[in-house]
Amino acid sequence: MTFSSLDGKRILVTGAAGFIGGALVARLLGELQRAQIVGFDSVNDYYSVALKEYRLRRLARIAERSQSTWRFVRGSLTDVAALARLFTENDFHIVVHLAAQAGVRYSVERPDKYVESNLVGFCNLIEECRKRVERSQSLDRLIYASSSSVYGNSESTPFSTSARADEPVSFYAATKRANELIAYSYGSLYGLTSIGLRFFTVYGPFGRPDMFYYSATENFVAGRPVSLYRGGACRRDFTYIDDAVEGIVRVMSRERYSRASSIFNLGSGRSVTVKDFVSTLRDALVESGVLARDFDLTAYVRSAPDVSGDVVTTLADVEPFEREFGFRPGVEVGDGLLRFARWYREYKLESSGR
Ligand code: UGA
Repeated sequence: MTFSSLDGKRILVTGAAGFIGGALVARLLGELQRAQIVGFDSVNDYYSVALKEYRLRRLARIAERSQSTWRFVRGSLTDVAALARLFTENDFHIVVHLAAQAGVRYSVERPDKYVESNLVGFCNLIEECRKRVERSQSLDRLIYASSSSVYGNSESTPFSTSARADEPVSFYAATKRANELIAYSYGSLYGLTSIGLRFFTVYGPFGRPDMFYYSATENFVAGRPVSLYRGGACRRDFTYIDDAVEGIVRVMSRERYSRASSIFNLGSGRSVTVKDFVSTLRDALVESGVLARDFDLTAYVRSAPDVSGDVVTTLADVEPFEREFGFRPGVEVGDGLLRFARWYREYKLESSGR
């Protein structure tokens, strides 16, 4: 599918040095004509700054042969003056807000980080959007990242956006749910059109080292064991990065929205146990040459108890998204992890200077 309705648009992607943001910008630069794409990111050190810089270098290379323009601005969402300048200089049509303090369990240790990015930062950003809407400038919609974690330990699966989602089990989830409610209030107060996407454990190449598939890979390579919470019995709806990006682009390019505020799940609608997932990861790492053929998984996994903030199961109801946008994520975990493993091998070879 092509997205010609986005040609010529001025688009802001916050979190552009991040995993989903970087992948989205790569796709937009690869496909759009005459679009002006601006990225904003603080490039903080929550995880490897080198990986974020690596993603940015890739975007700069893609931009060289793109039919659209690319500009990257390094800055913090807490810097109100910098945000105001960014919006004034660019008169965006579409804002895709992916910058956030990510990570579910870390939020139990450091809630302050989440207050700063996900609450104060989100409010600063949506205020800039409001000003554009009130002055009837070009801004047409705000698309922002929410999370599957807002469902908490709901036992009613698959998770439906019509469920209440008011029992978060982590502070991170509470901040993401707060974003949805704030966006709703801006829709009803000022007519700002917003679409919140509840992403379900997105994984893949150029991914986040703080996430399980990546940290487990690093541990296996270093010969260290990994802990499986609840003995690996947790289930996740894992969503491959290209599917997540396809979903975002569809939400961006849809002509209009009948309601000011909408929320959609962006997951695959399939759920696997972490135990099976890690075994598929092992096979992918062996097949791609990251691990030796005789790598014995059983020697490298330990059972660990429950951990605070973690939900037991996630599973998306994908029907509403499919109905609205004609798309359902389809990449299977085996395929997605193999693509991750191949990328990981290349990245490590490049970083070590070959
Ligand atoms: C992920 C992202 O990290 C969040 O930023 C995102 O908001 C969220 O998905 C989402 O769906 O919205 P999570 O599903 O917890 O959160 O992803 P991982 O940290 O990669 O954990 C995946 C699974 O591995 C979980 O079931 C967790 O219990 C398990 N795990 C993780 C372990 O068994 N051991 C570990 O050491 C780490």
